Parts: sequence; structure tokens; C-alpha cells
Amino acid sequence: MDRNLVVNLARVTEAAALASAKLLGRGDKNAADQLAVDAMRRMFDTIDIDGVVVIGEGEMDEAPMLYIGEHIGQSKSDDLKVDIAVDPLDGTLAVANGRSNAIAVVAVAPRGKLLHAPDMYMQKLACGPKAKGKVDIRASVKENIENVAEALNKDVSDITVEILERERHEKLVQEIRDAGARIKFISDGDVLSAISTCFEDTGVDLLLGSGGAPEGVLAAAAMKCLGGEFQGILLPEDEEQLKRCKRMNVDVDKVYFLEDLVKGNEVAFAATGVSYGELLEGVRYLDNNRATTETLILRAETGTVRFMKAVHQLDKKPEYAK
Ligand code: FBP
Repeated sequence: MDRNLVVNLARVTEAAALASAKLLGRGDKNAADQLAVDAMRRMFDTIDIDGVVVIGEGEMDEAPMLYIGEHIGQSKSDDLKVDIAVDPLDGTLAVANGRSNAIAVVAVAPRGKLLHAPDMYMQKLACGPKAKGKVDIRASVKENIENVAEALNKDVSDITVEILERERHEKLVQEIRDAGARIKFISDGDVLSAISTCFEDTGVDLLLGSGGAPEGVLAAAAMKCLGGEFQGILLPEDEEQLKRCKRMNVDVDKVYFLEDLVKGNEVAFAATGVSYGELLEGVRYLDNNRATTETLILRAETGTVRFMKAVHQLDKKPEYAK
């Protein structure tokens, strides 16, 4: 896949971040999401790509832009025929409530290589490269924590599990506590949690719990690039969701491993911080109409991990603030 594409993806996530960060703490999650979607869609139009959205804002009848199946770009090059997974704002509520760890995120892989995940919950497990191959989502929480501790040469009591703070995780929280590990709760944004397990500085060793399945595919794309582990099981909640799984030809009893979620090694990923976070700075507004962004860009083929900081002169890019 064209290696310049990943840098262009950074432009796409920067645009979404710059647009939606304006609404930090303003209490309007729909407006923040809409700004991110509009900005991301506009920036995609400037990229030489022949893309189809496979993970997006919803079905065509419920999302006017970045809907599943939407074609993006005009490129005729086979090199640029891609599937696109987007979450213009992962952490809409986090932005509305002025909380941390919201990101704008995109992954791209050759056509047919990304799982078309239905919009429902997925049980997730993610860890960094050192613990890869030592965990199994079907094993007990205690067993996985102990195996991660051994792989990282840490005491179990020094292992930190990141988890979405949700009522549905009550039993899981107890299991983690019984195993003797630490817990870091997040309000939103489990794509970043998965990624954090690959960066020792974040202090996060393991992601457990359920979150959105589409976000699972995005996290898996990043984990492919970073050499980490991601496993997921779809959790349909009712008949309708079961039917959707059938229609989309996905299996409810199956463990989706990295290769099932993202096939092959040609995947590119970009995420820009929207609100403040441990791995990525959020958008900061400077004097004279300037703003800074920090973006993580990844390419599985080469394994390159780039953190890209940018200063944007917003009056020269009026489209960011539309
Ligand atoms: P959105 O902001 O895109 O809605 O997702 C935020 C998020 O926290 C995801 O990161 C996570 O996978 C999912 O929501 C969890 O869903 P819920 O808030 O229903 O527990």
C-alpha cells in the first residue's frame, strides 16, 4: 500500500480533532460528533484514494456521511483500492463532558481485509507485544492477569488493567480485584486503551471488558501495526442483533483474533488526540489563532511508529472551524 497514504490519514484525523475539540466540555456530544464527521469527510475528499467505508457512522439511512458502504475518492490505482474504518470521534461523551482520552481515528487496509463488524458490543482483551501469545480471552481473568505479569516480569499487584467504567463490568471488576491487580477506569474510548498496552509509559498492561465491536476493529488495526494482541467475541444482546450477525456473516461464538479482524500486514492507522490524554495530547489552542495536535501514525508493513506534532494556523484553514 502507498506509504504516503498514512501521512494523509493523519491530515484526516487532525481535521476531525481540530473541529470537534472546539466543543470540549460544552455538553453537546451530537454536535461534537457532527463537527468531527464533517471535517473528516471533507479531508477525505482531498486524498487520492479509492475507498469504501466498512466501519463508519452507521447504515446509509441513518448517517448521511461516512456511512457503511460509502465510496470515497476517485483514484484508479489498484494500490489505493482500500477499505476504510473510521471513528471521527471515539469519545463523543468524553468531549461533551470535558474528559480525557477522546481521539479521532482511521484505519485503512486493502479491499476485503477489514472485518465488517456489526454495531454491537464485543468482549475485548488487548495487551502489548511482550504478553502476545500468553493470553486467551476464554481463560479466567486471574489466569490472564498472571500470564501477563509473568510475561512482563512484574508482580500481579503491579499489573494495571484498564476498563470502561460501566455497571455491566461489575463482575469483571470483582474478578480483577480478586486476582490482585490494579484497575484504571476510563469513562470512554477503549481504542486508545488497547493501544496504551503497547506503550510502557502509559502504565497500562491489559485491556479487558466489553465495548463497541466497530471500535474493536479499529483497535485491532493499531495492534497489528504495534505487534500487540487483540481478541474479541461479539455479544449480540437481542434477536435483532443476532439477525444482524447472520446478515453480516459474522459468528457469535467465535473468538475473533487479530488476523480475523484485520487480514494481512498492509494496514495503516492514524489517531489524533481530541481531549487531553496520557498517550496523545489533546488539541491545544494557542495565541494568534493557532492550535496544536498530536497524532500517532502507524504502518504494519514497516512497523514504523510515528508521533507527529503539528501547529495549525487556523485562520489559514477555515474549513477546520466550519
Ligand atoms: P463513541 O464516542 O464513538 O460513541 O464511543 C465511545 C466508546 O467509549 C468506545 O470507545 C467504546 O467502545 C464504546 O463507547 C463503549 O460503549 P458504551 O458507552 O455503550 O459502554
